Amino acid sequence: MNVALGVGGGIAAYKAAELARALMERGFTVEVVMTRAAEEFIRPLTFAALTGRKVHTHLFSAASAEDTLASAIEHIRVAQENQLLVVAPATADLLAKFTHGLADDLLTTTYLAFTGTVVLAPAMNTNMWNHPASQTNMQVLRGRGHVVVEPGEGLLACGMIGPGRLAEPDQIADAVLAASKTKKPRRDLDGETILITAGPTQEPIDGVRYLSNRSSGKMGYALAEEAVARGARVTLISGPVNLPAPLGATLVPVRTALEMRQAVMDRLSEATIVVKAAAVADYHIPNPSKQKMKKTAARLSLDLEPTPDILAELGAKKGDRLLIGFAAETDNMVEEARRKLQQKNCDMVVGNVVSHVVSHVASQQGTGFESDENEVVLVTRAGETIPVARASKRAIAGRIFDEAMRLRLALHASR
Ligand code: CTP
Repeated sequence: MNVALGVGGGIAAYKAAELARALMERGFTVEVVMTRAAEEFIRPLTFAALTGRKVHTHLFSAASAEDTLASAIEHIRVAQENQLLVVAPATADLLAKFTHGLADDLLTTTYLAFTGTVVLAPAMNTNMWNHPASQTNMQVLRGRGHVVVEPGEGLLACGMIGPGRLAEPDQIADAVLAASKTKKPRRDLDGETILITAGPTQEPIDGVRYLSNRSSGKMGYALAEEAVARGARVTLISGPVNLPAPLGATLVPVRTALEMRQAVMDRLSEATIVVKAAAVADYHIPNPSKQKMKKTAARLSLDLEPTPDILAELGAKKGDRLLIGFAAETDNMVEEARRKLQQKNCDMVVGNVVSHVVSHVASQQGTGFESDENEVVLVTRAGETIPVARASKRAIAGRIFDEAMRLRLALHASR
């Protein structure tokens, strides 16, 4: 297997020579790309001697016109001929450039053109590593699925003690070996625009109180993360939840059922798949008071009006879109899921039992609203009933999209 080894300009660049050797010992063919700054720390000749191959340094480094053309597309060739791109040391500057897609030298252009597995081994001064800018960049890069070999702690060249030291070459080479055996995630949702709703809605009673439910939003957020990872453009319309925004998705925060309906309808035209994982309130109080209601001795009844059923409205105007609804049930789950599938004209309904949440303690081991795990049954327009065994919500999300894509093919074929 071929590895492109990108060497950044830091004191630790000398360790990249040991890394090249460690990679070759593990059976990789290594092709080195150095930044200009890296050349200040270590000579290309060292890598050429170790790898027995030409070392690439500049984006435009040719004498003749023909050579210029060849070198101008060198980054494309390096990107295509290598299955892994390993960057060590990955300096703060390189990480920032990768994050923002800046491409002003051979290594950064190679990164942008590269579609294989990326392994990053950062190394820098402790304060630079701990800086929110670097940490935010790392979050983005991890979100792209890159493997990060964490820097070690110790005495740094600058005299500071702390995290920032390049991981040991053997450790990086082992991580590269492990990454080379891991299958790349599928990108089968490439080209899809997916609208996902998640979380509860809150329906105001007065200026400070509201009606809501125990939905945590975890299932909808897991669906958004899975869809992004598989290549989709994702808009996540979310009721109030306590979850970080999924990287790579467009988050549209809403509060009430009416706001959620508006947000969904505004974005429907661009969607190819709609997943309604939100636990939308069925009733609300029209025109609630903005003031806090005062307590009186009398009994109090609230006059509730039904909210619009967003899923049913989507079913009526879905066209060719794939429409996936949810049915959170305490009883008769499969029958109820099938009834909702038909009544709301869905292609699939994900049924899950939520009885466990009646007891808060039980819900910690249970499935449903607040749990990290779920156990569902998928009922489909094609008449199937597919049980999905208990698994993490992310794994369940994966299965929902697997079955949805398969169902779309089956529905098209049967037309
Ligand atoms: N839903 C919706 N708009 C509503 C209520 C529900 O879009 N006002 C959607 C939910 O997002 C979910 C599906 O409808 O995808 C089923 O929600 P659920 O609360 O289980 O069902 P209801 O239609 O409210 O039926 P019931 O109260 O009879 O269980």
